[in-house]
Amino acid sequence: MRETSVKGIILAGGLGKRLSPLTKITNKHLLPIYDKPMIYYPIQLLVDAGIKDILIVTGGHHAGEFLRLLGNGHGFGLKHLNYTYQEGEGGIAQALGLARHFAGESRIVVVLGDNLMEYGIREYVDHFRAQKSGGRVLLKEVEDPERFGVAALKGKRIVSIEEKPKKPKSDHAVTGVYMYDANVFDIIKTLRPSHRGELEITDVNNAYIRRGDLQFDIVKGWWADCGTFNSLLRANQLVAKQNHYGRQA
Ligand code: DAU
Repeated sequence: MRETSVKGIILAGGLGKRLSPLTKITNKHLLPIYDKPMIYYPIQLLVDAGIKDILIVTGGHHAGEFLRLLGNGHGFGLKHLNYTYQEGEGGIAQALGLARHFAGESRIVVVLGDNLMEYGIREYVDHFRAQKSGGRVLLKEVEDPERFGVAALKGKRIVSIEEKPKKPKSDHAVTGVYMYDANVFDIIKTLRPSHRGELEITDVNNAYIRRGDLQFDIVKGWWADCGTFNSLLRANQLVAKQNHYGRQA
């Protein structure tokens, strides 16, 4: 089989309403996490994993600020950065669907623009590269799984994922790093909006589970998202601590 490249996609659309009024005058992903804008972290995560061909999907009223801040990504050692615009906030899977042209036949690593990790993802991306086909998600044990997509596991298999379940079947949250083969775009085309009116990434992952083609890794170190005031504060504290005391062993 011909070796295809792996491209990176960062999803930084949506209106960040849960963080209003902070997000009234800027995009959520431009808010500070300690000493850098939030969007720097997912870019660095991809670059550190050896992924240099990157698309940023953004939206809302402040999309132009991404260009002003990031330009062509020279600050990250990139030659070029790609951008596209999501109208409205039709969900994570809708935002990803906009990346079809960019991805072509390549495999993709998708990172939500509000997700941060203590360590890199290179080893997980290597596992994905070794897969013949399908998708791969990264899981993390959390104390508040009802806030996330939650994976039910049977041995080394994910049997189902539920989006923000009232009674989670496990404490394994699905983090905002997803790896897919090119079939993902055909799967997205089959999706219908959920009760919150969005095309859900959890439905994409369940489609891969039905095909028997979704693998996973469990993330080492801390993982943070920044969707609420408390999680935003926690992410700031974790990064501040890491900058002062280094990474925990
Ligand atoms: O952080 C991990 C969680 O992210 C997963 O466990 C959930 O399964 C997944 O649905 C997602 O949950 P959230 O409710 O936290 O997603 P949120 O709506 O906050 O969106 C997360 C990021 O996705 C956001 O920072 C930008 C991007 N996004 C979101 C929407 C709704 C877009 O680019 N476009 C969108 O329309």
